[in-house]
Amino acid sequence: MRFLSERPVNPSVGTTVSHESAALHATGTALYTDDLVGRSQNVLHAWPVQATHAHAEVTALCTEPALQVPGVVRVLTAADVPGVNDAGIKHDEPLFPSEVMFYGHAVCWVLGETLDAARRGAEAVEVEYAELPSLLTLTEAIEAESFQGNRPTISRGDVDAGLARSAHRFSGEIEFGGQEHFYIETHAALAHVDESGQVFVQSSTQHPSETQEIIAHVLGLHSHEVTVQCLRMGGGFGGKEMQPHGLAAVAALGAVLTGRPVRLRLNRTQDITMTGKRHPFHATWEVGFDDDGRLHALRTTITSDGGWSLDLSEPVLTRAMCHIDNSYFVPDVEVHGQIAKTNKTSQTAFRGFGGPQGMLVIEDILGRCAPLLGIDPGELRRRNLYTDGQSTHYGQPVRHAERLHAIWGQLHERAEVDARRAEVDAFNAAHPHTKRGLAMTPVKFGISFNLTAFNQAGALVHVYKDGSVLINHGGTEMGQGLHTKMRQVAATALGVPLHYVRLAPTRTDKVPNTSATAASSGADLNGGAVKNACDQIRDRLAEVAAGKLNIHPDDVRFVDGVITGIGFHDDGIAWSDLVNDAYFQRVSLFAAGYYRTEGIHWDGKRMQGEPFKYFAYGAAVSEVEVDGFTGAYRFLRTDIIHDVGDSLSPLVDLGQIEGGFVQGAGWLTLEDLRWDTSDGPNRGRLATQAASTYKLPSFSEMPEELNVHLFEHATEDGVVYGSKAVGEPPLMLAFSVREALRDAVAAFGPAGRAVELASPATPEAVFWAVETSRQAAAAAPAPVGATAGDGQARPAPAPVGS
Ligand code: MTE
Ligand code: MOS
Repeated sequence: MRFLSERPVNPSVGTTVSHESAALHATGTALYTDDLVGRSQNVLHAWPVQATHAHAEVTALCTEPALQVPGVVRVLTAADVPGVNDAGIKHDEPLFPSEVMFYGHAVCWVLGETLDAARRGAEAVEVEYAELPSLLTLTEAIEAESFQGNRPTISRGDVDAGLARSAHRFSGEIEFGGQEHFYIETHAALAHVDESGQVFVQSSTQHPSETQEIIAHVLGLHSHEVTVQCLRMGGGFGGKEMQPHGLAAVAALGAVLTGRPVRLRLNRTQDITMTGKRHPFHATWEVGFDDDGRLHALRTTITSDGGWSLDLSEPVLTRAMCHIDNSYFVPDVEVHGQIAKTNKTSQTAFRGFGGPQGMLVIEDILGRCAPLLGIDPGELRRRNLYTDGQSTHYGQPVRHAERLHAIWGQLHERAEVDARRAEVDAFNAAHPHTKRGLAMTPVKFGISFNLTAFNQAGALVHVYKDGSVLINHGGTEMGQGLHTKMRQVAATALGVPLHYVRLAPTRTDKVPNTSATAASSGADLNGGAVKNACDQIRDRLAEVAAGKLNIHPDDVRFVDGVITGIGFHDDGIAWSDLVNDAYFQRVSLFAAGYYRTEGIHWDGKRMQGEPFKYFAYGAAVSEVEVDGFTGAYRFLRTDIIHDVGDSLSPLVDLGQIEGGFVQGAGWLTLEDLRWDTSDGPNRGRLATQAASTYKLPSFSEMPEELNVHLFEHATEDGVVYGSKAVGEPPLMLAFSVREALRDAVAAFGPAGRAVELASPATPEAVFWAVETSRQAAAAAPAPVGATAGDGQARPAPAPVGS
């Protein structure tokens, strides 16, 4: 078993086990960070003073009145910071700001004996502001040229020549919304200081090492004086990759200054108004196709709304630019990217990390242009899929492109697309006020952090004398099942039953210098490290066993807790006996594991390289039904085939695919973040602050029929036990829902007409799109089978050139 991807006999990986905390989750006994408060004594509670302006200078801050409130212990302000007053890694995020950058920005924090005392204290703090002009929308920011960070370009070939070569050219524009993470557990931190000044912070963080680093720089300490632990999170979805740091630092600062434990937990309103979300984007584009609908050239400028500070906006933009192609080969490409600076929360990582936004642009282009080309949208997509030997616009060969075609073909058959297309057409012909839509879209998603250095991980594995195994690794658990998979990896590598292996919570003093559990790479990276640690221990034990069995160590086998040689079937050594023997022979029973992803490189200056170890592939077919009177719709059915390599844990992967798909459908069809963009007193206030106004997908928005299949015979060489990452890619399967809605809307109008659809395609947005379709039908009943290039008089996408 020298190869990372090779599986031994009877592996624990690949077996169907439920999430390691499933029973705890379901019975309410799983502990989250804030549950620890009840187990600690003498805890102080923190409450923020949130600004009520989108942009303002703080001209006076009077904390005295708060201290008069019974139960208030202290008010934390910038003057209290012993180290650097900054919550980020870009030094553009003052933890206690003197200039308020968005409505809801925390100016200072009040510590109280009870949460209520802290809240009343915060109300008593007197802040004076001098209002400054604010920018809220992408349009305002682009007009004002308010940008932050770098403005990269990825290009290949000659776009002008490519467009000139194209028989059909179109141009257009799209702006689409962000997304609130709405994890069930809001941000939480609990900080303690011990007798020697060591700071210990429990935090709901996807990136404990970075939380540790930010706490250290705020407090003016070294990293070895700060330990961060994350028990588990009630969802992170990228929202806890960067955003927890400042909050953990506030709790730590409070603990250092008061000598008492400090708890900071945002309530829902605070969480949604203070922390970053998925980036909304704006894009302008110009595209060229040949007569067969093959893409020749694409020029686009994409602008993300980064909010008030950079946070992760630069890497999110890079991933968006690297995914502008989704699964399609475009010979001549020019992608320009920029990040708008606006007076809103600092937008951040969210499942897909910019990938979904980049892919939305090309999917929107294809969905809009297909009718103008006179080609079925599904067929247009199929024709443009990458084939083996082609590379992306940033220079990475698309390995296993044949998988895209295999998945497409299998799904087309399984979902009975041809027959159902005919049924949908028949239904639509018979129903003037209700229309169905059917659409199929592919996914290709690059796996690895774009920034090469992050692609490393560590683990610590202990085998105790009784044979029980304790593992620790650098990844965090947020519900995605990473810990379940890591137990299976350890059990497989050591050849022991799963119940021998226990997993301890993620802590920076166990495994240092970890990367965020993000980019879907948690299992790839930490699995590599766990396996490496287990391999070291198993190799040492093989020496001991070889002596006892009188064979060569290479011929020793570890299966289900019994150690034998190749071809032994009768007798073997029990795992616990072997471990005990090894101890008495003074053989070390613990090991630190390390893993770095081989064979990747990214040149961030030239925006070229092979940043991804591999691509995850998938495709989905969705069918919807739209009511023409209201725009309300039902999701009738979705079929998915998704490539997870050889699954480490099939049940977990199934859950990730279903959950990712539904979350993507939420982003594209329901979840609508609205800020007050008026000039009134509440300018900049997030108007959708709760589940009452921010519509999340629930059971009623699940497709009535959802069939998910894992792509078979999918071993991925070079990844732990032949698996593939699964956390983010399925989110983008939801494009099929948006395109199915477009298809249904089109059916209300004349053929051959480009349908524009807002994103999110809420029932309201769908209603207006249906109205436009109907007006087009009334104005100019178009001949059926309108051909390419006849879109001259149509609003958009506008044909360019001729
Ligand atoms: N699944 C659940 N249940 N909860 C989450 O917060 N986060 C997603 C995905 N799946 C998330 C989830 C995101 S954004 C990422 S990057 C991956 O899980 C991270 O975990 P992994 O790298 O172990 O897949
Ligand atoms: Mo996921 S957005 O990479 O945390």
